[in-house]
Amino acid sequence: MEFNLNQNRSVIALLGAGSMGCAITKRIGANKTILLGDVNEKNLEERAKELRYGGYIVETCQVDALDQQSVRNFAQKAAGLGPVKYFIDTAGASPNQATPEHIVKLDLIATAVAIDEFSKVIVRGGAGLVISSQTGYMMSFPEDIEKQLALTPTDKLSELDFVKNEATANQGIAYIAAKRANHLRVQAAAATTWGAAGARINTISPGIIVTPLAYDEFEAAGEGYQKMIEASPARRVGTSEEIAAAGAFLLSDEASFITGTDLLIDGGVIASMKTGKFSLQ
Ligand SMILES: NC(=O)c1ccc[n+]([C@@H]2O[C@H](COP(=O)([O-])OP(=O)(O)OC[C@H]3O[C@@H](n4cnc5c(N)ncnc54)[C@H](O)[C@@H]3O)[C@@H](O)[C@H]2O)c1
Repeated sequence: MEFNLNQNRSVIALLGAGSMGCAITKRIGANKTILLGDVNEKNLEERAKELRYGGYIVETCQVDALDQQSVRNFAQKAAGLGPVKYFIDTAGASPNQATPEHIVKLDLIATAVAIDEFSKVIVRGGAGLVISSQTGYMMSFPEDIEKQLALTPTDKLSELDFVKNEATANQGIAYIAAKRANHLRVQAAAATTWGAAGARINTISPGIIVTPLAYDEFEAAGEGYQKMIEASPARRVGTSEEIAAAGAFLLSDEASFITGTDLLIDGGVIASMKTGKFSLQ
């Protein structure tokens, strides 16, 4: 049965069909074609079913963010479905889910690849959103390293001394460096490739948001997270729906003057760190 006979639907491409990505998609997905992309086929089918049962028009594509050709095919598939007005990237692994090398490859380099590939298919007036993390604020890096992370051509990122050495020292540093790099790559893309395409792109840096990924973190490092929650002004975790509300705004035309920026949504964890109320072990 055809539920939506409107042929002028724009396309939302979601790379990483996880909890936050699907929550954002639900907020903005009415009367659009949603293309879900994920490496995990079972997850892809479950998420697609849930959205279809909610009345959304959904296509799926198995895509491995670690493989540039696969991401390129995903972007082409999106463009084949209609004008790609929205791109959301939430494909990531957290510190307790993967090795430092995997985190750097997925959260840092693959995100940079996806930003590049989608700059080629996003339409004028379109918008992108990359989910980074509060951890991107937890360390400061020298100015020359930040410049390298922002501006090095994507195919040369893995050759940077910083990426090969310091960034892979341990999972925590890999995650912090990758999420800081997300802010910098998005800022650079907003000013160059995405800006030239007439499109906007921003990041959101969530704090602790309860999703299966967060549960893996709690199981491995629950005590540290408990202290973080206690020291934060909000004194609680966040939900995917709270990220979705802000994501929907940043992707909407109401935010048409906002590009190249990061929105930190962390219940005040970073404020607590900056004022010495909480520090990382
Ligand atoms: N949950 C939190 O507390 C939290 C906080 C800050 C930042 N983040 C970041 O938010 C993003 C989304 O996290 P989430 O909590 O919604 O997690 P999630 O696990 O629900 O979603 C992540 C999705 O990425 C997919 N994925 C993993 N590797 C992939 C690959 N190679 N190719 C394609 N897809 C791949 C997974 O299958 C999963 O569906 C991640 O980048 C994460 O680092 C999460």
